[in-house]
Amino acid sequence: MLKVDSIVAGYGRTRILHGVSLNVPKGGLVALLGGNGTGKSTTLKAIVGLVAVQEGQVVLDGRVINDVPAEQRASLGLSLVPQGKEVFAGMSVEENLLMGAYHRRRDRQGIASDLEGVYQRFPRLKERRKVNAGMLSGGERQMLSIGRSLMARPSMLLLDEPSAALAPRIVEEIAEAILGLRDLGLTLLLVEQNVGMALDIADHIYVIRGGRIAYEREVGDGIAMEELQEFYLGGQEH
Ligand SMILES: Nc1ncnc2c1ncn2[C@@H]1O[C@H](COP(=O)(O)OP(=O)(O)OP(=O)(O)O)[C@@H](O)[C@H]1O
Ligand SMILES: [Mg+2]
Repeated sequence: MLKVDSIVAGYGRTRILHGVSLNVPKGGLVALLGGNGTGKSTTLKAIVGLVAVQEGQVVLDGRVINDVPAEQRASLGLSLVPQGKEVFAGMSVEENLLMGAYHRRRDRQGIASDLEGVYQRFPRLKERRKVNAGMLSGGERQMLSIGRSLMARPSMLLLDEPSAALAPRIVEEIAEAILGLRDLGLTLLLVEQNVGMALDIADHIYVIRGGRIAYEREVGDGIAMEELQEFYLGGQEH
């Protein structure tokens, strides 16, 4: 479904990605792992069009989308749940969710049923729907951030470190929620620093280091942790 082919990208003249390639098959759950500053968020931003691709291709369902603007990529089904659990703090939980459906605001019935769908998936958000989003716990904010993305009816969700800074019990809840989204038929690309969580739920992993894919492996037939750790922790940018 998504093919990232040797992309080079960065900020201004600084190159951050030096030819990143990865594949996410339809219905798959792929994890992109790596340490701080290795280019994980930049990769997701390049996929959704928030960072320009200088070389290489982003291919969605067989179509090169390098030149498609970010808003249009959203209508092609791509949705990013950004790092940092950002929510509109001055707005209620429900208003935040409705923002996710802003581009199809005339579809009242569809929006109402999608809202109900998000509330079923995250009952805590329903309980707190009138609450100012700034008052939510970290876990609740992450759920809200995912819920808001779902309101855009994506076919592919890109999640940037959804487990960061959350208690283990909440990380488990988020992991369950992500598996639930996979069962719903969504295609998922998950950026994580929590290797254990990623190995628990992903079917394929990539490790990025210094803007390059350093390791790639199918999950399942016993990933050698030492081998993974060597790529994950070994060395700095090159
Ligand atoms: N807007 C920006 N302008 C300039 N440089 C940036 C910008 N955003 C990120 N960078 C730099 O690009 C590099 C990769 O950043 P990126 O956010 O992709 O890393 P990351 O793997 O997501 O790290 P983390 O795990 O800390 O979120 C870093 O050196 C970072 O300082
Ligand atoms: Mg990041």
